[in-house]
Amino acid sequence: MGITRNCVQVCVYVAFIVAVVVADQENAIFACSGPLAYYMDLGCMPVYYNTKYKSFCVKRFDCSHLRRRYKDKCYINGHEYIHNEILRKEDANVCDNCICKRTENINEIEVAAFECDKSKCAKRTTVNQGCYLRGDPSECCKEEVICPSNIQNRSICNVSGEYYWDGELFHVQNEPNLKCICQPGYNGQNVPPFCVKQNHSLCDHPAFEHTDYFRRNCAPIFINVINGTTTCYRKMKCQSLDDIVVPHETPFVMDDDINDMCLFGNMMLRIGDIMEPSFDEHFNCILCICEVPPVLSCKYVERYECLPK
Ligand SMILES: *[C@@H]1O[C@H](CO)[C@@H](O)[C@H](O)[C@H]1NC(C)=O
Ligand SMILES: *[C@@H]1O[C@H](CO)[C@@H](O)[C@H](O)[C@H]1NC(C)=O
Ligand SMILES: *[C@@H]1O[C@H](CO)[C@@H](O)[C@H](O)[C@H]1NC(C)=O
Ligand SMILES: *[C@@H]1O[C@H](CO)[C@@H](O)[C@H](O)[C@H]1NC(C)=O
Repeated sequence: MGITRNCVQVCVYVAFIVAVVVADQENAIFACSGPLAYYMDLGCMPVYYNTKYKSFCVKRFDCSHLRRRYKDKCYINGHEYIHNEILRKEDANVCDNCICKRTENINEIEVAAFECDKSKCAKRTTVNQGCYLRGDPSECCKEEVICPSNIQNRSICNVSGEYYWDGELFHVQNEPNLKCICQPGYNGQNVPPFCVKQNHSLCDHPAFEHTDYFRRNCAPIFINVINGTTTCYRKMKCQSLDDIVVPHETPFVMDDDINDMCLFGNMMLRIGDIMEPSFDEHFNCILCICEVPPVLSCKYVERYECLPK
């Protein structure tokens, strides 16, 4: 256990102590730490530090509007939909074919959510050896089969130091709404025809999920966390029985303002506190920390970093 915890603290130090980078870009806020893509999807409002320092990073988010939402309506991009209403083009991504459905499950913490017909793109094209598929980020299910005379010279995209093959989907750091496909001629510019801005994030968006993860105080798990900034979360982690909090300083005291604390299930954490998940098949290699309340930030770590030796 001692080893695990030591490692956890080291890993957290490495991953989450973020040097704040240049501010003059559209998505500068994403250079800050915290589960920002999730707050954006939920439509929470940033609350800034009330200090004389110039800071574009956020102290916490105000998500109180979520408590006033109707459980039998769907919400996306600040728009409200009623039962059986179709997801409008302005809120839809190119392949979405979705309808708002309320849930029958009134005993659970469940809410209305968009249910989508995914059959449109269900049949995958099969390709012969030496060939590959290239999608089109602006069209639904359009896939071109490419059979180069020499597979060796299939082109490669250098996306800020990460490499993708021609035809591969990639996500851009700090831009959870961009859908990109590596294609010949890519030179680092995340613009059409390589990348197309979507009308909702490509994350595990809460509007498409009947489980009310926010009310259950669950936390998003991020992938591709580079220097603390985030691309997209791919899963939610809810409290399980043996999850424990490791306070960053002892003794544990409540903050003066409860709004400055993170909530996870029925647990409260101060900024900097770590949540160590109990051993669990699905969540065994994640690390969670209270960075920007009220939601914890979790990320995947390597197996050797979290398993007891
Ligand atoms: C987003 O909404 C606009 C306006 O309705 C629409 O023209 C566009 O096609 C949508 N974008 C995507 C990626 O579907
Ligand atoms: C791809 O490989 C073929 C055969 O080796 C070669 O003739 C061609 O010039 C290569 N194309 C590029 C773009 O490198
Ligand atoms: C890929 O991009 C990174 C950062 O944009 C750059 O430092 C690196 O030199 C590039 N690699 C190659 C092989 O061009
Ligand atoms: C991450 O941080 C390290 C050290 O501060 C820096 O050398 C590296 O370039 C950063 N990488 C990215 C992708 O920002």
